[in-house]
Amino acid sequence: MAERPTARIQISSESGYHSPQLDVDIRLNTNESPFPPPPGFVEAVARAALTVDWNRYPDRSARHLRSALAQRYDVTPEQVFAANGSNEVLQSLLLAYGGEGRSVAVFEPTYAMYSQIARTTGTRLVKGRRAADFSLDSSSARQLVLEERPDVVILCSPNNPTGTPAANGLVVDLEKAVGSYGGLLVLDEAYGEFAPEGAAGLVSEDRCVVVSRTFSKTWAMAGARLGYLIAPTWCVAELEKVALPYHLDALKLEIGVLALGYVDAMRERVERLVAERERMATALDGLEVTTWPSAANFILLRPDSRPGREVWQDLVERSVLVRDFTTMPGLEECLRVTIGSRVENDMFLDALREVLR
Ligand SMILES: Cc1ncc(COP(=O)(O)O)c(C=O)c1O
Repeated sequence: MAERPTARIQISSESGYHSPQLDVDIRLNTNESPFPPPPGFVEAVARAALTVDWNRYPDRSARHLRSALAQRYDVTPEQVFAANGSNEVLQSLLLAYGGEGRSVAVFEPTYAMYSQIARTTGTRLVKGRRAADFSLDSSSARQLVLEERPDVVILCSPNNPTGTPAANGLVVDLEKAVGSYGGLLVLDEAYGEFAPEGAAGLVSEDRCVVVSRTFSKTWAMAGARLGYLIAPTWCVAELEKVALPYHLDALKLEIGVLALGYVDAMRERVERLVAERERMATALDGLEVTTWPSAANFILLRPDSRPGREVWQDLVERSVLVRDFTTMPGLEECLRVTIGSRVENDMFLDALREVLR
């Protein structure tokens, strides 16, 4: 048998990013929307599929989609980059601005894909830490950035998996800090619509700040794999150099534009989920768990009297799947529950009450 080639060292030691996809009744583990897209949307997508020139490559510049997004954020199409999910946006950022001899700073505990993409792109990871309540104060974040001068700083707001929004002034302070030496501040706002405000308004040609968002969560379109970045034109131009040609398929380009015609339906769902999140937070307050305030569509919780992993397993036995963070540094014994429909949330709460008894 031929000798097997070995992958690059950072990758061969990687097990990859996995969230178990178990066959259960109530799936509250990946922060998806519990609702299907609005009525009429899927039919519009089906009609669009009939008009696509399937024998031709799609519009490489994604002109319509970028124009539609630009209009929504009051920027120019040249200030928009779209990709197959915001994970691909983040990967493109590190392909362009990270890599060998470069570094990226993140504030743990946070979204695990940042460190994974740092490894696969060969970017050195600089780890800042959040406080015990998962908040991040401006002065310690600025200090880390000014000492380490990372090429890229990623701030997740609201932060996954803790739900913590960025503190007042933090984004502006970090933007000034990276701007002082030529770094790039990436705001990952995958859950931005659930929070009171976002940072897209900060993007301009003379600031080193970019904002990443996704259709996966608030738009109920995780299955479509579409994310985007609002950024200065000079940044978008660099990302286009690392994106594969025609990386967005022709139907997806149409789907994104169609979705933007349903802004009101999207907002209405967000409001419903935020109301459910508050209801869930109040219900959890009455149980033997510790929770943290969330500005997203999930809540982090830590059972007070039983090991988190046992609670997770007992919930699975009741056909409820939440996310297990019990072995993640800084999140020991913690579980994260996505806000589902009212029925799903009640089933989760009933199961949790039983399990904690
Ligand atoms: C913080 C954060 N950023 C980015 C993503 C990636 O989302 P997608 O690739 O579906 O757009 C996720 C997905 O869970 C996330 O939690």
